[in-house]
Amino acid sequence: MGEPFVKIRDIHKSFGKTQVLKGVDLDVEKGDVVTLMGPSGTGKTTLLRCINLLERPEQGSITIGDETIECGKLTKKAMVSFRRNTTMVFQNYNLFKNKTVLENVMEGLVSVQKKSKEEAREIAMEELVKVNMEDKINAYPSEISGGQQQRAGIARALALKPKVILLDEPTSALDPELVGGVLDIIKDIAKTGITMIIVTHEMRFARKISTKVVFMDGGYIVETGAPDELFENPKEERTKKFLEKIMH
Ligand SMILES: Nc1ncnc2c1ncn2[C@@H]1O[C@H](COP(=O)(O)OP(=O)(O)OP(=O)(O)O)[C@@H](O)[C@H]1O
Ligand SMILES: [Mg+2]
Repeated sequence: MGEPFVKIRDIHKSFGKTQVLKGVDLDVEKGDVVTLMGPSGTGKTTLLRCINLLERPEQGSITIGDETIECGKLTKKAMVSFRRNTTMVFQNYNLFKNKTVLENVMEGLVSVQKKSKEEAREIAMEELVKVNMEDKINAYPSEISGGQQQRAGIARALALKPKVILLDEPTSALDPELVGGVLDIIKDIAKTGITMIIVTHEMRFARKISTKVVFMDGGYIVETGAPDELFENPKEERTKKFLEKIMH
């Protein structure tokens, strides 16, 4: 085995005096589907935002593919460049309200990746077909359901062809009857071999699709394992307690 595709080392992140991430290490192999779980307020969203550099860690390093950054001494330029390795799918979709579905998916391709409108449209359409949204391309976010908005959010993230896609509780804002459709789409995408890190409370889903499950608590990664191993035989007391609570 060579170096892992994604290598996160000793990530620290504070907000004011609150230390949220206290030294996070994580290895992710190419094509891995990693699910990240843990109690509310434990730093899961913050970790994803740090990997995407929406937040800047004070300390630690992140490697994706052949690019490594030292978070303590990041230039603006290095930040902008490193950010392109990943895209985020947000809990609340974060679509531009004044743009259509198609325009939302085209936006980053044109403004960040400097593609022509024609090329951006072609790529966007390809991704929108994959998430079964081809009949809604001209709709505005307010005209479609939460599930459809999230599928557009997923298409937007995929269109940029990141090395790693980061999903932060992609189904938690959805009405229960819309969750299944979005999870099915994510399952299909996972099968294509793209590397994914997903924060989710959907345990059955996590168990089915993950190659690796990570349990986080109190600003640290407490335990990591293959899904069957972690769900059946958690080693750490804190993992056991958490699983008991959420499985009822
Ligand atoms: N921008 C911010 N400013 C100040 N504090 C923040 C900020 N973002 C997050 N925090 C704090 O960091 C801690 C971790 O938050 P985070 O959102 O990462 O948790 P989480 O594990 O994703 O929780 P949840 O399961 O509820 O989404 C919380 O105590 C939160 O209040
Ligand atoms: Mg969160």
